[in-house]
Amino acid sequence: MGVVEARQLERDFGAFRAVDGIAFNIEEGECYGFLGPNGAGKTTTVRMIQGLLPRTGGDLTVFGKDIDREPVSIKADLGVVSQENNLDRDLTVRQNLLTYARYFDIEPEVAQSRADELLKFLHLDGKKGDKLSAISGGMQRRLAIARALINGPRLMLLDEPTTGLDPQARHMIWARLRSLKKQKITMILTTHYMEEAERLCDRVAIMNGGKILMEGKPSELVKDVIGEEVIELNLGDENRQAALNRVRALGAAYEMHGDTVYIYNGRHEMLSALVGIGHRSVLHRKATLEDLFLKLAGRTLVD
Ligand SMILES: Nc1ncnc2c1ncn2[C@@H]1O[C@H](COP(=O)(O)OP(=O)(O)O)[C@@H](O)[C@H]1O
Ligand SMILES: [Mg+2]
Repeated sequence: MGVVEARQLERDFGAFRAVDGIAFNIEEGECYGFLGPNGAGKTTTVRMIQGLLPRTGGDLTVFGKDIDREPVSIKADLGVVSQENNLDRDLTVRQNLLTYARYFDIEPEVAQSRADELLKFLHLDGKKGDKLSAISGGMQRRLAIARALINGPRLMLLDEPTTGLDPQARHMIWARLRSLKKQKITMILTTHYMEEAERLCDRVAIMNGGKILMEGKPSELVKDVIGEEVIELNLGDENRQAALNRVRALGAAYEMHGDTVYIYNGRHEMLSALVGIGHRSVLHRKATLEDLFLKLAGRTLVD
């Protein structure tokens, strides 16, 4: 049985359907990602799993129990990092953890030793006594993760854990999440960073308009939709039409975004056929989830 199972899951806000009949089955120890542009329905889905928002249709079980019927026992095993920062600004780093521990009726001595352990794990032990205003955005995000771990959850819900952070802060969080993954904690993550999903998620669901468009292992989705490799050609302004004609003559699938042409399944032999085409730069590389996303964006996704 899956840790989280959804069938025909729906959520309406008035006449608007934010989540439109989605199904998924998340296995124990898996890191499962919901990807999609703003408004796709990712947060609404997470909030239903969290028991914060009742569904309007379908089935949803967490640990085999109906979340709307048994929210209290489910929540005891959940750790949640929500999209908006909801740490307590008036408390210190350590007090944020201790105060939160009270919601779970954790004994004060236990809470203190757990808090110290978690602050060490998230590399925040040097900041224990600092007020929130004194620590960076990346540290606040790490603190939110530490707080979500205070009750020793079996399932972590992470809604855009690294949005808005600089690359260094993001890498730091990725390393911590990978470490949680090794501890076999099941994770559900939403993101619009393709690289994040590729690095962390065992499987992803690509959402748009409240629906799941595709689901699978990132590498397999990319291989199926894009192929193994991509040639990325940045065209100059001169003779663009002539250049595009030559790209077309290759007979490969391609797409144009801005002034860049992406040639899917771009094989090495094609490079010689592109010599003298008048491009500013050419890059032959492995296909990524970002390519898949761009390809879908060209057709269906809106942001
Ligand atoms: N409380 C609400 N009331 C009305 N509409 C909402 C509410 N919450 C979300 N929505 C709408 O539902 C859609 C999905 O939102 P959300 O789940 O937050 O998307 P995402 O997290 O993928 O950006 C959006 O169009 C959003 O405006
Ligand atoms: Mg969201």
